[in-house]
Amino acid sequence: MELEAVAKSYARWAPVYDRTFGAVTNAGRRRATGFANQVGGSVLEVGVGTGLALPFYAPHMQVTGVDFSEDMLAKARQKVREQGLRQVRALQQMDARDLAFPDQSFDSVCAMHILSVVPEPERVMAEMARVCRVGGHVLVTNHFAAEGKGLMARVERLFAPLSDLLGWHSDFERARVLGDIRLQLVEEDGLPPFGMMTYLRLRRVA
Ligand SMILES: C[S@@+](CC[C@H](N)C(=O)[O-])C[C@H]1O[C@@H](n2cnc3c(N)ncnc32)[C@H](O)[C@@H]1O
Repeated sequence: MELEAVAKSYARWAPVYDRTFGAVTNAGRRRATGFANQVGGSVLEVGVGTGLALPFYAPHMQVTGVDFSEDMLAKARQKVREQGLRQVRALQQMDARDLAFPDQSFDSVCAMHILSVVPEPERVMAEMARVCRVGGHVLVTNHFAAEGKGLMARVERLFAPLSDLLGWHSDFERARVLGDIRLQLVEEDGLPPFGMMTYLRLRRVA
C-alpha cells in the first residue's frame, strides 16, 4: 500500500479496530511482548496502531511506539493516558521505512500485523535490523500467504486486489521478511485464530 492509502484506510479503521481485527489477534501481541519483557530494557514497537499491545509490556520496560497514522496514534495516546501506562516513554508519528533513531538503539523491536500493510516491507525490515542492538531480537507477528492451491490460498488471491480497502495485503509472502542477513530466524510458530497468524523471532547478528 502507498502511504496515502495507509493513512486513509487507518483513519477508517481507528474507531473500530480494537473491537474487530484487534480483538481476535491478541495472541501474537502477548507472545512478542512476553519475549521482550523477559529480555527487559528498551523496545521499539513499529506500527503501534491503537496501542493494543502497550498494556502487555511490563512496568520495568521502556517502550517507544511509532506509527504513520495520526488517527491510530490518537487512540494509543488515549490508552496511555487512561490506563496510566508509565512504561510507554514516547509515541511518535513516523514512517517505518525511515526510522529516526540511531543504529542499535533498542534491545528488542516488535512489528505486529504491520509488514503486510507497509509499502516496501524489505526496507522496514532493514530499518528494524539497523535500530536493534546486535544480540537483540526483532519480533514479528503477521499473516502470511498460504502455500499451494488450497481454499485459503484462493481466498487470499481473491481479496488481494482490495488491499487499499482492507488495509493490508491478504497474499503477503513470508519470504519478504526473511531477506536481511543481519536477522537470523531462531523461532517460528503458528498462532490463533486458527493458525492464521505466524510468530517469528529473529536474532540480530553483526
Ligand atoms: C493492522 S495495523 C497493526 C497495529 C498494531 N501493531 C496491532 O497489532 O494492532 C497496521 C498499522 O501499520 C501502520 N503503518 C502502515 N504503514 C506504515 C508506515 N510506513 N510507517 C509506520 N506505520 C505504518 C498503520 O498506520 C497501522 O496502524
